[in-house]
Amino acid sequence: MQDLSLHILDIVENSTKAGATLVKIQIIEDTDKNLLQIIIEDNGHGMDPEMVKTVRDPFVTTRTTRSVGLGLSLLEQAAKETGGDLSIISHTGHGTTVKATFQANHIDRKPVGDIGSTLVSLIAGNPDIDFVYNGDFHDESIELDTREVRAELGGIVPLNDPAVLKLFRDLFKKSGKPEQHEYGPEV
Ligand SMILES: Nc1ncnc2c1ncn2[C@@H]1O[C@H](COP(=O)(O)OP(=O)(O)OP(=O)(O)O)[C@@H](O)[C@H]1O
Ligand SMILES: [Mg+2]
Repeated sequence: MQDLSLHILDIVENSTKAGATLVKIQIIEDTDKNLLQIIIEDNGHGMDPEMVKTVRDPFVTTRTTRSVGLGLSLLEQAAKETGGDLSIISHTGHGTTVKATFQANHIDRKPVGDIGSTLVSLIAGNPDIDFVYNGDFHDESIELDTREVRAELGGIVPLNDPAVLKLFRDLFKKSGKPEQHEYGPEV
């Protein structure tokens, strides 16, 4: 996977499969500590403790179409390549929080990528799920809460209406220039 927003797409797919109605996505950079953190929290059906222990193993999956599950193990690998780590906290019936930590300026740290497109496609594909996004990295700070937008639309216009999706797209377009990886190849 080329960039972290594609990993996020993958991890959020686990949340939607788990029946979540609310998914919170945070990308936060702590420049003093040289840390980039990605936190994805959902209110889906969660996992029991045994599952949480084994879930990073690529051979653990509840998929029925193939016997490997790669989402979490690939994200863990991407974090560890930078000296970071992955943590998973889950409670059956309540939800799951996945937190990936990266050394921000590490040569192997993947760029965040096009998080705007990632969010727009998540909303377009899951108009009944609410997403809360909080991005605070690389001199840009964006917050989005689809619950607020949904309330304003008054239940008449769906979140995946083309005009609404354009509003979301524009929110990300306005924010500064795309992140350039400090050491990596230009994309
Ligand atoms: N947020 C979550 N809520 C509940 N269960 C989860 C969650 N995330 C992961 N799981 C469980 O962990 C398993 C492994 O997840 P992982 O993303 O690594 O692989 P996958 O989703 O099975 O396959 P892939 O991501 O390659 O399509 C899933 O099959 C699912 O049972
Ligand atoms: Mg997955």
